[in-house]
Amino acid sequence: MAYENITTTQEDRTHIITINRPKQLNALNKATIQELHDALDKANKDEGTRVIILTGSGEKAFVAGADIKEFANYNVEQGQELAANGQEILFNFVQNLPTPVIAAVNGFALGGGLELAMASHIRVASENAKLGLPEVSLGVIPGYGGTQRLAQLVGRGKAMELITTAGMMDAKDAQNWGLVNHVVPQNELMDLAKKLAKKICNNSGSAIKSAIKAVNANYVDGLNGFNVEITEFGNCFGTDEFKEGTSAFLEKRKPDFK
Ligand code: CAA
Repeated sequence: MAYENITTTQEDRTHIITINRPKQLNALNKATIQELHDALDKANKDEGTRVIILTGSGEKAFVAGADIKEFANYNVEQGQELAANGQEILFNFVQNLPTPVIAAVNGFALGGGLELAMASHIRVASENAKLGLPEVSLGVIPGYGGTQRLAQLVGRGKAMELITTAGMMDAKDAQNWGLVNHVVPQNELMDLAKKLAKKICNNSGSAIKSAIKAVNANYVDGLNGFNVEITEFGNCFGTDEFKEGTSAFLEKRKPDFK
């Protein structure tokens, strides 16, 4: 698939996907969502990729939301389809991807943009970032999982405040709320994301895949996260990476995870 709305680069074992619609502040139209799905799926299947970094092009925005121009004339059915399709092919897809995804939030992360960051496994932000779910100011609500993931990340009370006020918070407040893990000057953001990626690359990919599955299990109706943890813990014992990791420890050397 040829990409028109994103660019991709590979640096060692880290795959960087940049949403590239700077004139629209990287707003997510359907085509961009499809391209992101395709690029994430390919990176996840590529054995040479261990971590994915998602970011936005330009200095102003990560993603300023779903593309308002695209959905402004939708009816009820089209609105439901937009949310269902987006959740399935991008937002839930990212959350459940076995390869860890780091969102490098380099500016506005609003609506679908914050939802994409929240679906990612790790979030880091630049000092100029502004985060919020302003959908109710447009007469709509977050539709890409924002009502659920924001409450999971910061608690129901804070989520209700941010959503009902359609407020925008700066990066420091987002860090205080636990919405992003680290805040750095914009020119240091990608270095920080790559540094985190490098640390992840040193560890067992198969164990990380199991860890993501176990952590996510807490948020799936009908699944007992503790039971998933037991199963995944056991599964690790059947992997070559477990043998390598434990042998390396006992032999007092660094593990070499392929
Ligand atoms: N969709 C489509 N286009 C967008 C956009 C969006 N979400 N956000 C910005 N743009 C476009 C603007 O229309 C503008 O295009 P033109 O030059 O063609 O007019 C261009 O990007 C630059 O934007 P501004 O001139 O508005 O830039 P600014 O610096 O004055 O303001 C901003 C920046 C505060 C982010 C403002 O653009 C803004 O409020 N954007 C919309 C944010 C928003 O409401 N996001 C939620 C979308 S709904 C959603 O995401 C639903 C969901 O959950 C599924």
